[in-house]
Amino acid sequence: MKKNLKCFTLAVAVVSAFVFSACKESPAKTATKANMYFGVAIQPGDILDESKAKLIADNFNAIVPENTMKMVNIRPTKTLWNFSDMDKMVDFAQKNKMMVRGHTFIWHQQNSTIVNQIKSREDAFALINENINQIMTRYKGKIACYDVANEIFNEDGTFRKSLWYRWCGTDLYEEAFRIARAADPDAKLFLNDYSHEEAGTPKAEAFYEFVKSMVEKGVPIDGVGFQLHLCTDYGLKEDALRENIRRFAALGLEVQFTEIDVRMKMPASEADVAKQKGMYETLMRVLKDEPNVSTYMTWGYTDANSWVPATFHGYGDAHLFDKNLKAKSVFDSLVEMMRN
Ligand code: XIL
Repeated sequence: MKKNLKCFTLAVAVVSAFVFSACKESPAKTATKANMYFGVAIQPGDILDESKAKLIADNFNAIVPENTMKMVNIRPTKTLWNFSDMDKMVDFAQKNKMMVRGHTFIWHQQNSTIVNQIKSREDAFALINENINQIMTRYKGKIACYDVANEIFNEDGTFRKSLWYRWCGTDLYEEAFRIARAADPDAKLFLNDYSHEEAGTPKAEAFYEFVKSMVEKGVPIDGVGFQLHLCTDYGLKEDALRENIRRFAALGLEVQFTEIDVRMKMPASEADVAKQKGMYETLMRVLKDEPNVSTYMTWGYTDANSWVPATFHGYGDAHLFDKNLKAKSVFDSLVEMMRN
């Protein structure tokens, strides 16, 4: 009799555990149901490690290569194309039904040494043309959108004097969008930047005016990327952010949140942790309210492997999972917001 009862209790426990886990929807699924992309920047090692790969696939429905598609990695020399890591990421995304953002073709950093051989404006155009065509042809139908150009402005609203700008002025930026449109007409094309998210700053105004001029000229741009590398010291001006988003909507453009993280001065105070949570939540609320925003990409998922401490000395803990890969309460709160 006692033995039977034990068996029965065990069976009930097993069945309830099964039902519970079947009912518990993964955050990735929640995001998809909410008709939005909730994504993360990843590195090749993330998908080689089974437990990290599972964490990413369960919790996000979009990825962006943090460094893998940058010229220094994907085309280290003129004749060497290194597609293997990018291929693995794209396969991983396809297997798990995740959207992929491509990042990035024109940037002033992480270029390969090929750029040292540029001797003329024509050389610069030819190199960018080759890179865009090779990559976008290979991943046609598999990468949904690209940051065609990245960070082309200075804080004061002038154009950054990158090697691209010095050879070609803004012509290359515009031409790159045309080249990209021809290479894969279904891919969405973006101009991405940081510290231009709040209307009213010199950079935000210059960025907006340039994008507006592109639209007026018929340059094929689908949207703009707001990186949103934020810091609790400065907070976030929600009204200015919304105002900016809405003027891009008026131009017929999408806004994607492309590289969100919210760093704190270390060791983080309780007040900062609460503020960080509030800032992540504000972005989710803005996304839910503004019809031309549906992509919420975070720049890395764990404090254990983050670009923040090396870039912003004394700052850290910027991500949604802690150093032990445990979801922080801010993560759960974002999932709850997506669910409702
Ligand atoms: C960063 C990566 O996270 C680092 O690993 C790398 O060393 C430098 O680049 N804006 C961008 C990203 O558009 O490509 C940058 O990524 C972060 C700032």
